[in-house]
Formats: sequence, structure tokens, C-alpha cells
Amino acid sequence: MYIDLHNHLLPGVDDGAAKISQTLRGLETAVNENVGVLCFTPHIWEGRFPNEPGKLREVFERVKEAAASLPIELHLGSEVFYSNGLAEEHMKGAYIPIGKKKRFLLVELSTSVMPRGVANGLYRLMLQGVEPVLAHPERYLYVQKDPKCLLELAQAQVPMQVTTQSVTGAFGSAAQKAAMKLLDLGLISFIASDAHNPETRPFVFREAVRIINRKYGHTTARLLAIDNPRRVLEGDNLLPVPGKGGKRSAFQ
Ligand SMILES: [Fe+2]
Repeated sequence: MYIDLHNHLLPGVDDGAAKISQTLRGLETAVNENVGVLCFTPHIWEGRFPNEPGKLREVFERVKEAAASLPIELHLGSEVFYSNGLAEEHMKGAYIPIGKKKRFLLVELSTSVMPRGVANGLYRLMLQGVEPVLAHPERYLYVQKDPKCLLELAQAQVPMQVTTQSVTGAFGSAAQKAAMKLLDLGLISFIASDAHNPETRPFVFREAVRIINRKYGHTTARLLAIDNPRRVLEGDNLLPVPGKGGKRSAFQ
């Protein structure tokens, strides 16, 4: 069964599921997509989605109770919008890292302009004992234009996540092309849905895994959809995922 570490199905807290009924419907579709373990990652985004961890935990407990009969294991994390003050905010307890040991934090960047000093900002977060995971780089315009702009982050071994709907082409050909390029380069540690609702932003795990399986083989598909996501939850070291032709990274 697959493990989904990025979605917005926690109700009423961001631009994802609005009500708990939508959450429960979404979780049913996740089960149908063979997702057995799921981590909600509501946005924490200053000025846009100013979510407090305490409040998110309360909503999460309510959802867990309401979804108790569904065959899916639930966890709570967050998706944090990058700012230069990331490390300081983390130290104040503003975020919810993923997994038992709270080792990994899902971080998204502006889609239009690569933030200045991002490698340094993420490095300062690492010094606090948290490892950033870069959310959906394939959807950033500057990555689509030139994947090499990720060189510094790749050299710093920042794990990266590609979205299932980018792999299937639902986000357009530029995102799909960039997703495949990053997978070719062996830069992606796991895939996740970034599902927002069961209708327009669904899980599509089965189709994405089928495509990856066909192009990169069973071992890579398993690493991306099961093995590495489990390691994130357990707080263990992530395994390298071979790119095209078994290569690690053409950047190095
Ligand atoms: Fe997201």
C-alpha cells in the first residue's frame, strides 16, 4: 500500500477540503487509490494561511475519530511556505514536521521566483535538527525553465517530492516534463498527491505509480511510493533513488 505524505484534506484550515464530509470522501478515494497511510500537511503560510500547530492538532484529532472505521492510518504534518526566517520560526514551534522523530519538514517555494539565499535558509533549518523536503519543484516556473537551478539544493542533499498529478500530466506538459527530468536525474526521493479535494485535485496514485513503473522499473516505483515515505515517517535516512539508466544524479 502506498504512503501519501502531502495533501490538504484536513478540513477548514487552508485551500483544501472545506468540511469534514469532504475529508471523509477524500479519504475513501485515497483508500481506493491503494493509499494505506496518509499524512495531512495543511499550509502554514504567513499572511495567507496563518495556521497554529495547536489548532491543527485539534482538528486532526476530530478527523481521526470520525475516520476511525476507514482502513487508513493517519498522521499530521504541515507544508510550510519558505521565508528567510524559516529556522527562527521553527525554533518558536510554528511548524509541524513529519513523522515520529519530527525529522523532516515539507517546505514549498514561490512558484514564480526562486527566493534569494534559499540554500542558506534551508541550511540554517538543518542546523536546528530538521531536514527540509522540497515540495513539488517540478511546478516551479524557474525549475521548468532550467532544472539546474536546483544544483545547490541537490548538492546539499535536500530531499525533493514530485506530485502524482505532475507525473500523469494533469498539471500540464511543462510540469510533467520537469517531473520526468528530475526523476531522470535521480533527484526525487518520493512522490505524493498534494490532493486538495477528491474532485479537481485527487490522489491519482495508481496511475502515477504505473507510469513510473513502466519508465523506471518496479524498484524505483516502490522506493518513491512506499519505502522512502515510510522512512520519512520513521525518521530514518532516505534511500537514494536511481534515475534514468540507474544514475544517481547527473548534476554531480
Ligand atoms: Fe501542498
